[in-house]
Amino acid sequence: MAKPAVQYACTECGYAAGRWFGKCPGCDAFGTLVEEVVGQVGRAKAPPKPLLRLVDVEAEAATRISTGVAELDRVLGGGLVPASLVLVGGEPGVGKSTLLLTALAEMSATHRVLLVTGEESVAQVKLRAERLGGAARVEILAETELDTVCETLESERPDVCVIDSVQTLYSADLGSAPGSVAQVREAAARLLRVAKESGVATILVGHVTKDGAVAGPRVLEHLVDCVLQFEGDRYRAHRVLRAAKNRFGSTNELGIFEMTGAGLVGVPDPSEVFGRTVDGEPGAAVACTLEGTRPILLEVQALVAQSELAMPRRVANGVDTRRLAMIVAVLARHAGIALGQADVFVNVAGGVRIDEPGADLAVALAIASATRRVPARPRLAAFGELGLTGRLRPATQAERRLQECAKLGLAAVVAPSGTPRHGTLDVAEAETLRAAVQAGLERERSEGNDPS
Ligand SMILES: Nc1ncnc2c1ncn2[C@@H]1O[C@H](COP(=O)(O)OP(=O)(O)OP(=O)(O)O)[C@@H](O)[C@H]1O
Ligand SMILES: [Mg+2]
Repeated sequence: MAKPAVQYACTECGYAAGRWFGKCPGCDAFGTLVEEVVGQVGRAKAPPKPLLRLVDVEAEAATRISTGVAELDRVLGGGLVPASLVLVGGEPGVGKSTLLLTALAEMSATHRVLLVTGEESVAQVKLRAERLGGAARVEILAETELDTVCETLESERPDVCVIDSVQTLYSADLGSAPGSVAQVREAAARLLRVAKESGVATILVGHVTKDGAVAGPRVLEHLVDCVLQFEGDRYRAHRVLRAAKNRFGSTNELGIFEMTGAGLVGVPDPSEVFGRTVDGEPGAAVACTLEGTRPILLEVQALVAQSELAMPRRVANGVDTRRLAMIVAVLARHAGIALGQADVFVNVAGGVRIDEPGADLAVALAIASATRRVPARPRLAAFGELGLTGRLRPATQAERRLQECAKLGLAAVVAPSGTPRHGTLDVAEAETLRAAVQAGLERERSEGNDPS
């Protein structure tokens, strides 16, 4: 019989190779490659299985389980799907355990819920539960042995189970250390089977590496039905939950929370919190972005300073750095705002990350305002995607964005041409970035000339 094949896999990124490296070629981490056995050779052949037609499949319309945390329900696409497997990733201390214990406490009123804790002792969980309140009916199991956890789930069959965390689970059969690629993959695959067969909606807590990806192989993300990322600055109170993958709903939804002494509290109206600028302050603009089905107003701040470096800095918090570089280039080429000798810093309020291109115009406006030291018009918001030719592209669902601006009591909006009117909002349509900058900045508008 042939020898079982051996491969070396990185515990950080999942890179696998036929030989060992000191430095992982995939993620450049040192000493992370560990040996693992791939597949068993010479196994018996499996018999074929009869096929089904989809028309013969009986599917009961699964009613989702509401988690009792409105923002979490929104990100999941309307609640937890029974028998699904959800992975929640996030940096240490961001509040994963807190969020899930709150959800379990809420769900325990109507469902049987279980918390498997491998990371904290039962007493530690109890202390947190007391702080959060309402968790009296949550059942708890302190266990890291994978077989025991799976057996318990199969015999107890709770409706919902949270595993905190998947990296602590350990199967003695595999020989490698807990948290290694092989262990995490095995744990996820076994739990997936248990979830589907026993009908347990399972939520796995996963740690993330320094780049923000869920530690362990990417294969974990393929296995599960839903990947949620819990982000935010540990040093600030607001946290953002977003879906990176969702088999049962949209991936654009955002859930916003505030960390308080009594746990995580949902922020149902983030525009109210993040969407305000101080009138007359240069370097700030309000973006009206659309995250999933919800329009959100976010303050974007920019600082432009004379650079001491040969290669000026482009630093962005909450905006993709490449996107920022593009916006800076378009501003230089098409709006006459040269930033070749300047450092540009951009910050989005509340630690929220904007992926949506509709926010381009507000970022450009904030930078233009900072460069020219002219504040944006008071109570103004902006949206629109920036093309490389300096032309503005229409943003999707303009009507909803305008509604949100009107709701927050804004007076004016700069938007791409073709945007419909809305109530008393002064919609300044602009075809090009140059025109949008002119329409958006205070003094330039009243003078009515093009200063560049
Ligand atoms: N008494 C308290 N008052 C306010 N905030 C608190 C209190 N206790 C804990 N926190 C917040 O909870 C956070 C820790 O939350 P939690 O333990 O849920 O994080 P986690 O993501 O599970 O972390 P880990 O990855 O280490 O398990 C702390 O960073 C802190 O901000
Ligand atoms: Mg935790």
